[in-house]
Amino acid sequence: MSVDGSAKPLNPKLSRRTLFRAAAALGVAGAAGAWQLSVDSPADRLHLTSRARLPEPFTLPLTVPPVLAPERRDDTTDYYRLVQRASNITVLPGYSTPIWGYNGIFPGPTIVSNRARRTVVTHRNELPVPVVVHLHGGHVPEESDGYPTDLLYPVGGGHDEMSDMMGGPDPAAHTMIGERDYTYPAGQPAAALWYHDHRMDFTGPAVWRGLAGFHLVVDDAEQRLGLPGGARDIPLMLADRAFDENGAFTYPAIDSTMTHTPGVTGKFGRGVLGDVVLVNGVPWPAHRVDTARYRLRLLNGSNARVYRLRFDRRGGSLPIVQIGSDGGLLARPQELTELTIAPGERYDVVVDFSECAVGDQVTVYNDLGAGTTTRVLRFDIAERVRDSAVVPDRLTDFETLDRRAAVTTRRFAFRQGDAGGMRGWVINGRAYDPRTPIARPTLGQVEVWQLSTDLDHPIHLHLNQFQVLTRDGRAPRAADGGWKDTLYLPATGMAEIAVRFTDYAGRFVLHCHNLEHEDMAMMATFGTVAGIAT
Ligand code: C2O
Ligand code: CU
Ligand code: CU
Repeated sequence: MSVDGSAKPLNPKLSRRTLFRAAAALGVAGAAGAWQLSVDSPADRLHLTSRARLPEPFTLPLTVPPVLAPERRDDTTDYYRLVQRASNITVLPGYSTPIWGYNGIFPGPTIVSNRARRTVVTHRNELPVPVVVHLHGGHVPEESDGYPTDLLYPVGGGHDEMSDMMGGPDPAAHTMIGERDYTYPAGQPAAALWYHDHRMDFTGPAVWRGLAGFHLVVDDAEQRLGLPGGARDIPLMLADRAFDENGAFTYPAIDSTMTHTPGVTGKFGRGVLGDVVLVNGVPWPAHRVDTARYRLRLLNGSNARVYRLRFDRRGGSLPIVQIGSDGGLLARPQELTELTIAPGERYDVVVDFSECAVGDQVTVYNDLGAGTTTRVLRFDIAERVRDSAVVPDRLTDFETLDRRAAVTTRRFAFRQGDAGGMRGWVINGRAYDPRTPIARPTLGQVEVWQLSTDLDHPIHLHLNQFQVLTRDGRAPRAADGGWKDTLYLPATGMAEIAVRFTDYAGRFVLHCHNLEHEDMAMMATFGTVAGIAT
């Protein structure tokens, strides 16, 4: 089946029941045998196979998404505007690919916020389906977080649905028609965040069609460090896709209209994998670099694919100096030889090409891939320069959350299980239900959350970043340091994290960031409650 981004608008009459399919009506699809769980091991997980002519790896130049200019600024706030619309772009040479994009491009434009300023983004929905915008990693109040039922209906549509929602099963939803503002408060430390669609039941296909972009937060302290900047500070969004014979993205949706039945066809229930690795939307790009340090802000924007990256120069690996995690800078840089990155995660790294010779090539391999997905991108050393960028020994200071201060320990088990009468993906045995919170943490209190898995799941929390305490009862991995919002747990893994929710009482979600798992009910609501003022 191919994704047709230029499809004419669908009948926007979505019944309220369709919005709660994950909780209630998956049973119907299950009874019909439309979705079954595959039990193969991660190594044999099947992927989609492209039928279009694919370019040779490392023949296309890397591109970097444009930085969005604000529409206006005032004393405190920068105002942006994005239109979500269908368009056609060139991904594979010689083909036109229909996408859904923020301002019609994929990845969407990069928003750069200064920590000291508030950011307001007005989104206009010119797509044929409702959307939800989530700022992943953002410390944002409930009404702008992109709760999965806070739908923004298409321009000119949705009145029936809106009245249907009122008094429906999710009366707490803030739905809007046509346009709405998302307000992101100032104050969050410098970090590479990203924004993407988050509509209940249909996040996987929406992101696959192109609804994802970077949102970088910068601050003065970070800028004073002397890290590589300008053209040597590059956001890199990894995302796999597959293409049909016409160059359109393929996605094995049960319902390609993305209106009534969520989920993917049987064998893709473990997650949808493509056979083409895109970096900033370009298949296996090459990038000409100087003999200098480069800061790479790696984001795994794939639906389900996990990568283990290695920077290879003539058979030896170049050190990857990690300087930041999902939530911002580490206290100190650390050297890694490989980096596992799961959907939703970001790693801020510096790679030093200054020892390379002009003409050298540094190839980034994915050691978890097979065939076409073992390669990611290549850096071609093109020019000898003098580089003044540095990576200081101390990057920032932050508080370490102390488990002895924890007031509560909660357990969350991410497993296959019964989702309304069929096998699905559930948390503590429960399919996603927006009406019933799974936990009610008090703002300001440290909690320990114990996360466990059956198969592999990247686990993501909204509202606040957390710190990893243990993995399988032992010390966390080197790359687990700093503030994180997404943690990759392999099959039968267990981790303890310390988290303290702050500032915003309201409802938020935790979920698996394998987007097919998320759409097939592996999500739960938590409601933060204000503590006693001290
Ligand atoms: Cu990036 Cu709740 O998601
Ligand atoms: Cu998020
Ligand atoms: Cu999962």
